[in-house]
Amino acid sequence: MSWTFSQRAQKLTSSAIREILKVTERPEVISFAGGLPSPATFPVERLQAACVDVLTNAPAPALQYGPTEGYLPLREWVAARYNVSTDNVLITTGSQQGLDLLGKVLIDVGSRVLVETPTYLGALQAFSLSEPSFVSVPSDDEGVVPEELTAELTDGARFLYCLPNFQNPTGRRLPVERRRKLARIAADAGLLLLEDDPYGALAYQGEQLPTLYSMNPDGVVHMGSFSKVLAPGLRVGYLIAPEMLHRKLVQAKQAADLHTPSFTQRIVHEVIKGGFLDEHIPKVRALYGAQCQAMLEALRKYFPPSVTWNQPEGGMFIWVKLPEHVDGMQLLDKAIAQNVAFVPGAPFFANEPQTNTLRLSFVTVPKEKIFEGIERLGQIIARECSG
Ligand SMILES: Cc1ncc(COP(=O)(O)O)c(C=O)c1O
Repeated sequence: MSWTFSQRAQKLTSSAIREILKVTERPEVISFAGGLPSPATFPVERLQAACVDVLTNAPAPALQYGPTEGYLPLREWVAARYNVSTDNVLITTGSQQGLDLLGKVLIDVGSRVLVETPTYLGALQAFSLSEPSFVSVPSDDEGVVPEELTAELTDGARFLYCLPNFQNPTGRRLPVERRRKLARIAADAGLLLLEDDPYGALAYQGEQLPTLYSMNPDGVVHMGSFSKVLAPGLRVGYLIAPEMLHRKLVQAKQAADLHTPSFTQRIVHEVIKGGFLDEHIPKVRALYGAQCQAMLEALRKYFPPSVTWNQPEGGMFIWVKLPEHVDGMQLLDKAIAQNVAFVPGAPFFANEPQTNTLRLSFVTVPKEKIFEGIERLGQIIARECSG
């Protein structure tokens, strides 16, 4: 039997990270590659109890079709948390679905889409299905540089996709002054901002900073997720969007999956409704914060002086810059041969990849293994640097 794939499907490629993760599943590999939350943070007993509650008290609606917009009490919870109207909240099947839906309703073939340098690979994948023309906006260690949003870039652009909190892949956080500037410049230029924020609650130092959405609710879509604060397998996220866009997104979601599972939405709500996250998130922060410190200490101890990295104030990642001539992809082959893994930085760039970069996740590997893995990686890098 033969069939013809759509042109769109023919252009699809697998995420470099997912391919790497397959290799790193071998138990002997110390993997800093995955962006997975630590299973130690999953509130298993609470989730178990919530399943029983939901199936005992509301079995029919939990197992029935539901509204596309989402389970109303969960939407109300999100609305209260962000101090917005419930009408603006859409529950999504993970924030990844938010990215997919936004791509579908905002991008035509060839549309200009602005992204950070580098940016979240999963967003590049989601938007790529609509075949935009990506433009990487110059960014530095603090994130996107607002002044770089010249009229030449913003005119006709469909949106700027940005990650102000502990960005995936760099772990960097956009300072509050830059947020204000960015929100103002975008508003003046009529540029829509997509604010992806799965890591905002995971701040290990300093306070949580105001969202871009709070600075211009008419010109920003905010995306959030329960993946990093409860469990990613639940696949429950949300977005907050201006009214007209919200309506379009609901239509697109109807076509995609009718609605996010009634069952998991109710379980999430059952767990969080009494304020559980306010006691749970500090525990996640404490664990990840300690892991982050351990990795920073290991890096200082074992990485050669020609290598630099950032000091994240939250999130799950550290971004490493190698000397110019060292290629992250080639380094990975050598690292895997020595049973240690990371994600090379190049796939996170929409244009002109910086090949001498890599991303390290510090959340899933236990502390003693962090030291062992970073020591091994440091030796491999040292050989490359001198070679
Ligand atoms: C920046 C960013 N956005 C979105 C997602 C997708 O998260 P979710 O599990 O909510 O779909 C991730 C997952 O790692 C992410 O890092």
